[in-house]
Order: sequence, then C-alpha cells, then structure tokens
Amino acid sequence: MRLALLGCGTVGAEVVRLLHEQSADLAARIGAPLEIAGIAVRRIGRDRGELPVDPALFTTDALGLIKRDDVDVVVEVVGGIEPARTWLVEALRRGKSVVTANKALLAEDGGALHDAAVEGSGDLYYEASVAGAIPLLRPLRESLHGDRITQVTGIVNGTTNFILSAMHATGAGFAEALEEATELGYAEADPTADVEGFDAAAKAAILASLAFHTRVGAADVHREGITEVTSADVASAKAMGCTIKLLCIAARGMDAQGRESVNVRVHPAMIPLTHPLASVGDAFNAVFVEADAAGQLMFYGRGAGGAPTASAVLGDVVAVARNRLAGVRSASESAYADLPVRPMGEALTRYHISLDVADRPGVLEAVAGVFARHHVSIATVRQGPSGGDNGDAVLVIVTHVASDAALAATVDELRGLEIVRSVASVLRVEGGL
Ligand code: NDP
Ligand code: HSE
Repeated sequence: MRLALLGCGTVGAEVVRLLHEQSADLAARIGAPLEIAGIAVRRIGRDRGELPVDPALFTTDALGLIKRDDVDVVVEVVGGIEPARTWLVEALRRGKSVVTANKALLAEDGGALHDAAVEGSGDLYYEASVAGAIPLLRPLRESLHGDRITQVTGIVNGTTNFILSAMHATGAGFAEALEEATELGYAEADPTADVEGFDAAAKAAILASLAFHTRVGAADVHREGITEVTSADVASAKAMGCTIKLLCIAARGMDAQGRESVNVRVHPAMIPLTHPLASVGDAFNAVFVEADAAGQLMFYGRGAGGAPTASAVLGDVVAVARNRLAGVRSASESAYADLPVRPMGEALTRYHISLDVADRPGVLEAVAGVFARHHVSIATVRQGPSGGDNGDAVLVIVTHVASDAALAATVDELRGLEIVRSVASVLRVEGGL
C-alpha cells in the first residue's frame, strides 16, 4: 500500500513518525506494508529535525506525486482551500483514496470532494478535521446511523477553550489570556481563525452535515468569536454559577414554515458549571451528542496538536487501506435528508444582558417594557453599582427562552433609550440553569 503525503508540518511530521514507529503493527492490521511514495512540501530545504524518512522522498510537485500510478492513498495535511481542493479532486477522480485533516476545505466545498469520490470510487475519510484525536466522525457516520440525532453541542476549538478557561480561572482579560495561549504555543501567530470562530464554524459545518444527512457549509453557520468576551462577563457568569465557552451547536427543529430544518451556530455562551462541557478545560475538546434512541453521548479528548491529530489520520489510513485491499469502499456521503438551514433569527435560547443604566425611578419599568413589547420574558434581574462615581447602575437581566430575532430587536430598542448608557454585553445562556 503506497501513500503520498501532502504536507509535513505539525501534523505531517507526526504522521511520518507514527508510520515509522508503528510500521510492523500497521502492516499487520492492514494486511500489507504501508510505504511512503513521496512527501510534497513547499520548501524542500526546510529543517525538519530528525525525521525518520529518506530525504529523497521530498518534492514540491504535489500534483505530479498524486498522479503517480504507484500511489494508492493520498494523505493531505497542508490545509487551506487551494491548491488542496485541486489536488484532492484529482486524486479522488483517479480512484485514489484520500485522508484529509482539512476542515476549511471540507466546510467550504466538501461537496466537490464527495462527488469526486463517487466518480473515482475511492474513499474519502476526514476524522482528524474535527476535534483532533477524538473518534467522533466515525461514530456519527457509522455507529449512529441507526438513530436520529437531534443536537450536537461541542467545544471544538482548543485555543479558545484555553483562553476562556484561563479567563475563568484567573480573572484575566481576553488580551492577557491570548498572550498566555501564544506563549505556550496554543495560539498561532495570527489567531484570527480561532478567536473569531472561523475554525469552530468549519468544524460545526462538518458535524452538522454528518449528523443531519444534509450538506451544510461554512456559509450556513452563524459565527461569533470570543474577542468581545470581557472579564466582567466571566465574573457575571461565575456569579450565576456558570462559565463561558465557545460552543458549536447544531440542532434540528422546525422553521417558521413548520418544516424540519437545522440551525448551526458558533458563539460564546454561558453554561452552568454542572453541565458536562463546563469542566472541559485547557485546550481540550468535547462534543455532546443527543439522539432519540441513544440519549446523551459525550466525546472528550485532545482536539489539536501534531501527535493527537496524526493518530486520527493514521486511523483513517488503516481504514481506507483495508478497504482497498478488500476491493471495497465505504458508504458514500449521506446527504439524502437535504434539510433547509434555519436562519439565526429563529434560533431559540436564553440570554444574559448587561446594561449600564441611570439609577433613578422608572428605569426598571422602562427597561422591562422594552422586553415585554418584543415578547421576551425576563427570568431574573440583578442590579448593582456601576463602579463609577456618576450614580449609574448595572442591570443584569437573564431571559427565558426567546428567538434571536426578538432578542436583537429588544437590544436595538434598549440602545435607543436615554436611560440606557450602554449595552455592555449580550451573551447566550445554554444548557439549562
Ligand atoms: P503546518 O503549517 O504545520 O504544515 C503545513 C505543511 O504543508 C508544511 O509541511 C508545508 O510545507 C506544506 N505546504 C504548505 N503549502 C504547500 C504547497 N503549496 N505545496 C506543498 N506543500 C505545502 O500545518 P498543520 O500541520 O498544523 O496543519 C495541517 C492540516 O491539519 C490543516 O488542514 C489543519 O487545519 C489541520 N489540522 C491541524 C491541527 C493542528 O493541531 N495543527 C489539528 C487538526 C487539524 P513546508 O513544511 O515546506 O512549509
Ligand atoms: N487551531 C485549532 C484549535 C487546531 O485550536 O483547536 C485544531 O483544529
């Protein structure tokens, strides 16, 4: 079984190491030895440390490597949309099996890859693309295929979970926690994809597609990052017995026309400290799956890093290699349900709103009136001093379940009130209280 490796960075180097260290076991598990036919990289001369591989295998001609007749399996750990899409579509159309960790490409144009896999009759596996080492996609695409999944709720970005966990533990602000994440090597030099929620949104699209048998792309996912989360929000969450996590939520439900549909969103949310996801600290990932017959399932582990991600890649390599030897391929994409995507305005949840207000008679009534006009029911109200010497107060309001559209209209109207100095923060509250 001959393998073309595209990319030899954080993940690719660990794939090479594991292939070397486990070669005898892998051969026994597959039924044939696994050999690296070539490794495509951007810079041939880059120092790659003590990699246990023949330097002559390196090439900058990824497409040429893919097209070679002696390549059976293509492993892509480069990332990005192009040229990865062109390479993988070419490989799949040629009947090669593909293993990829490329969540950005799968969320942007997974359909092109699935269609090419059908055309070429090869396998397309991508376990490493969501939640690193955690076996999650295989359970969704195989083990739970007899069931009906109703919701997937997860912490799928390690960097942001590290930052929010640090903010919760030490009271640090976002900037300080990000600096710590960078120093420890969790956050990339440009952390935008993580802190703005793009990485989690791509993973949410992949999870929703598998859970609901529907093609969901990154553009279908409502996305908010964690850059606006303040230490005051974290303190307020703590006061309510909650913590703040960047959640990815993919949920079945009915849309305004009464059709079954899906809503997929990524945003920071308060969750009770008693919720299973609340104790997921550091850079760990965890995904909570709810299904009609199975009930609640939780998957937990390392969602990032070279070795954990390579573990998932190698698991896929063994699966596709076995299939090739047996002359079979796995079931193709299951997108038969083709459910419509519900707009974010129709998402139902609870909200925590923090307002800086004038502290004088009638303020509470005026604020409550705005909520009432938009049919948003208030669950609790807490008032405290603003901290300044201007005599203002801070009002913290938690609502019952309301639609995102109703809440947005409420907040818009609150912003226009003379007595509301500012809407300091609006956070969703998930997981019951
Ligand atoms: P790195 O940036 O560490 O490595 C990328 C590799 O791709 C490098 O070897 C680079 O070559 C090579 N490369 C880049 N552009 C080209 C090109 N045009 N032609 C040929 N080779 C190219 O990325 P990671 O290993 O961190 O990530 C790889 C994939 O795995 C991405 O899709 C990522 O999203 C995904 N992933 C990563 C995780 C992680 O924790 N790192 C976790 C889960 C998924 P060179 O070495 O010469 O620079
Ligand atoms: N940047 C990602 C994270 C890597 O922090 O989770 C894993 O996909």
